[in-house]
Amino acid sequence: MRTKEGVFRSFSSKNCPKISTFDKHFYSTNMRDIFEKVTKNMGAIGEHSQDAHGYFTFPKLEGEIGPYMTFRGKKLLNWSLNNYLGLANHPEVRKVDAEASAKYGLALPMGARMMSGNSDLHEQLERELSAYVHKQDTILCNFGYQAMVSAIDSLVDRHDVIVYDAESHACILDGMRLHIGKRFVFKHNDIADCEKQLQRATKIAEANGGGILLITEGVFGMRGDQGKLKEIVELKKKYQFRMFVDDAHGIGTMGAKGGGTGEHQGCQDGIDVYFGTFAKSFALIGGFISSDKAIITYLRYNMRSQIFAKALPMPLVVGALKRLELMRNHPEYKDKLWEITRALQSGLKNAGFNIGDTNSPVTPVYLNGSIPEATNMVQDLRENFGIFCSMVTYPVIPKGMIILRLIPTATHNLEDVKYTIENFSKIVGKLKNGDYNKAFAKVRVDL
Ligand SMILES: Cc1ncc(COP(=O)(O)O)c(C=O)c1O
Repeated sequence: MRTKEGVFRSFSSKNCPKISTFDKHFYSTNMRDIFEKVTKNMGAIGEHSQDAHGYFTFPKLEGEIGPYMTFRGKKLLNWSLNNYLGLANHPEVRKVDAEASAKYGLALPMGARMMSGNSDLHEQLERELSAYVHKQDTILCNFGYQAMVSAIDSLVDRHDVIVYDAESHACILDGMRLHIGKRFVFKHNDIADCEKQLQRATKIAEANGGGILLITEGVFGMRGDQGKLKEIVELKKKYQFRMFVDDAHGIGTMGAKGGGTGEHQGCQDGIDVYFGTFAKSFALIGGFISSDKAIITYLRYNMRSQIFAKALPMPLVVGALKRLELMRNHPEYKDKLWEITRALQSGLKNAGFNIGDTNSPVTPVYLNGSIPEATNMVQDLRENFGIFCSMVTYPVIPKGMIILRLIPTATHNLEDVKYTIENFSKIVGKLKNGDYNKAFAKVRVDL
């Protein structure tokens, strides 16, 4: 629907789905239907669903995974996939994925690891991952998100205190929702505040006879800045705590051999529990947690999401082994990723863009504008400039801010970078001119 305000209309009951109602005789004055919220409050993002669905949310990128993919019938230059090393469509990866699926099928193993779902290949992958991230042992997990939630749940009890970074990923926040003890948040990457929260946590832990788990990230996926892991590890000289790092974006992209942000900062030994996902550099699905042998043995027997859920299917395990082999033996993929990253980030900075303080491949471009301006601009980018990237607006970031997030990969080339910077300069010129307040009708497509 076309409106003057841009693609996102303000929420009204008209945007809400209709639901069936209870028979009248069930109605109690003190009760409400738990589905009532569906008709009254779709949530901060969900309230835009009717206008955004299929274009700004849930877009369908089709064709082979790569820097050019088809969106609504048009081939676009794509900067929105975490296929950092370009492994998603690597011919050897595709071959092994297909062969493993043919050999094992998708069902094997048919149970949880503890009961009937263990295999030599699962254990081999755990050994190889441990060596890659410089830890003694590893536990495979079916999903990265679920791994973080469940590991946090297993590691703390009501006597313990969690200290965590304010910009932690949703999976860390959800893990904490299971924690019934105290928690303290420190300002994003602010070491002085981190120390203050450790002092508060120490008092509580001492009173409770508990311990402290500090949780942060290797690379923050929205801003692209690295967690200050080395400085936090230094705090261990003054405070007694264990450190858990979510390195979803750092595994494969950071460190001399891709072993992650701890390897890059020279402090991997100080990280007590290390998490990596297969969803990004590995271009797969699943995740893992690595630590000392005793900790991993404890997790194997206590992480509820793994004890009570079916093991990672064999083709994913074989696929992960292949990807790991390629990551170890082909440092040129990471080098290429960084060549593209450096070209993109220095090119954007030289063209006057604000990319914040990223020091990883994640490249946010910070702009000022309203949500309608952001949607018009992104639509212009897609329809008229052939560029697809992710857009972040309120409520994820403060009102009046727009982030266009670019994810470089080893499969992009320098021409892609040049084309993008040139055309970003054009759209930002239009944004500053106020064109996206008035020109939306030209670029609007029917959603
Ligand atoms: C920082 C971070 N942690 C955890 C996850 C969840 O990982 P997965 O997609 O493997 O569930 C993500 C997103 O993928 C992430 O960005």
